Amino acid sequence: MYGNEEKKIDEVRQGEALLLDDAVVNSESRKLYLESYGCAMNFADSEIVASILKDKGYSTTRNVEEADVIFINTCSIRDNAEVAARNKLKQFNVLKKNNPELVIGVLGCMAERLKSKFLEEERLVDIVAGPDSYRSLPELIGQVESGQKAVNVLLSREETYAEIAPVRMQSNGITAFISIMRGCDNMCSFCVVPFTRGRERSRDPFTIVKEAQDLHQQGYKEVTLLGQNVDSYRWSANPELRGKELKEAEGDDIVNFAKLLEMVALVSPDLRVRFSTSHPKDITDDVLFMIKKYNNICNYIHLPIQSGNTRILEKMNRTYTREWYINKVNRIREIIPDCGITTDVIAGFCSETEEEHQDTVNLIKWAQFDMAYMYYYSERPGTLAEKKYEDDVPEETKKKRLQEIIEAQHNSQRESIKKCLNQTYDVLIEGVSKKSENELMGRNSQSHVVVFPRGNHKPGDYVKVKITECTRATLMGVVVE
Ligand code: SAM
Ligand code: SF4
Ligand code: F3S
Repeated sequence: MYGNEEKKIDEVRQGEALLLDDAVVNSESRKLYLESYGCAMNFADSEIVASILKDKGYSTTRNVEEADVIFINTCSIRDNAEVAARNKLKQFNVLKKNNPELVIGVLGCMAERLKSKFLEEERLVDIVAGPDSYRSLPELIGQVESGQKAVNVLLSREETYAEIAPVRMQSNGITAFISIMRGCDNMCSFCVVPFTRGRERSRDPFTIVKEAQDLHQQGYKEVTLLGQNVDSYRWSANPELRGKELKEAEGDDIVNFAKLLEMVALVSPDLRVRFSTSHPKDITDDVLFMIKKYNNICNYIHLPIQSGNTRILEKMNRTYTREWYINKVNRIREIIPDCGITTDVIAGFCSETEEEHQDTVNLIKWAQFDMAYMYYYSERPGTLAEKKYEDDVPEETKKKRLQEIIEAQHNSQRESIKKCLNQTYDVLIEGVSKKSENELMGRNSQSHVVVFPRGNHKPGDYVKVKITECTRATLMGVVVE
């Protein structure tokens, strides 16, 4: 895992485990232990799973030894994410020696990718459940208890879990994710997501607004709207409209992403709204002007570039060029001058030359991203790239290029963060700083981490902080009235 040192709950997180909050533990009921890996959408799904099982009398535990059911919600995005999940499953299987009744299930993208192979080849699990099958988990557990193995990896064109109220896990009570869509229709050639998550579908906007209202009433101060490509969010009350027809339909009853942003922003001026991820080919001026219009829509866009070279972008099937991306960044900064922009980069994609790699390095220097998640290419079975292109950049070269990309990004970050010095920002306090009990941490609208002396302030408060010092990834300052 590279580039994830600045851990952000509102960002894609890879290979990091999250345990269910034990706040809902009840010693009477059957106990569920759930561990999650992968992106924010997977973490949001785990909250749906917890909700579905809570309705069936399950409570959650952080102690795996006392679990009746263990679920691991997995990621397939890179090979190392799958290796981590397998190792975990092996560890969990040891527990079966003392507890033969223990049910172990694999959920999420790896379950979808490997399907029943998981049962045939690995014998590590009793249940294999893909991302669209979570409503059937209680039945799948029942099936295992009656002596069978259970698999449900059907992908759906409709499932959005729209009306299920997620059980908020490891919540700080201040920030929360809201899934607004599922799946992806983009088919970037390196990416396994379209195969593990299925076709893109958007969730009913009124259930999204209701979830934001409920969170606001519970005291939450920030929501992050999640989708693999939020700019293609599109919903109509007419269930007949789907796919291409829905994309082309116009009219007052069509809700696009800009409109959805506005609907959520209007829940309360006190509730911040963020979103992730934007696709450079799809983000519109309407979205940018909506960010500008509402103070509570954060000035922050995660805009993955993947490569700075047009030939490689074409091979990646990203459907934009280097120039298109540069124009997008310029347009964002023209409309929202202080917008935080972050990105994702892949080093060493199939056939990438040294010169093409340097195009990426140069673009990183030019763009002055506030943060980047940086990876080297990992070939994924079944993807377009695996079928069409040779994974021919040697691993050593991939790692060397990644290192150069990281260096370029860190140097540029060190410089660009200095523009924040002496500025005053509205900061939403999220908690106590990791380094000192006497300091609090929060974020400004641009999503920079801001640390400052505690004073009489508390998590959930908004404060104005004047920045006096900075490191590469953190701003330090003092509260001003
Ligand atoms: N939907 C988002 C987008 O279009 O950028 C993010 C998708 S993915 C969950 C998060 C990131 O993982 C991608 O932006 C990409 O940088 C990286 N990624 C995806 N497939 C990869 C692969 N095969 N090897 C290395 N990195 C990969
Ligand atoms: Fe993967 Fe591309 Fe879809 Fe993102 S937009 S999830 S990178 S296929
Ligand atoms: Fe997310 Fe990993 Fe699946 S990044 S969509 S959990 S492959």
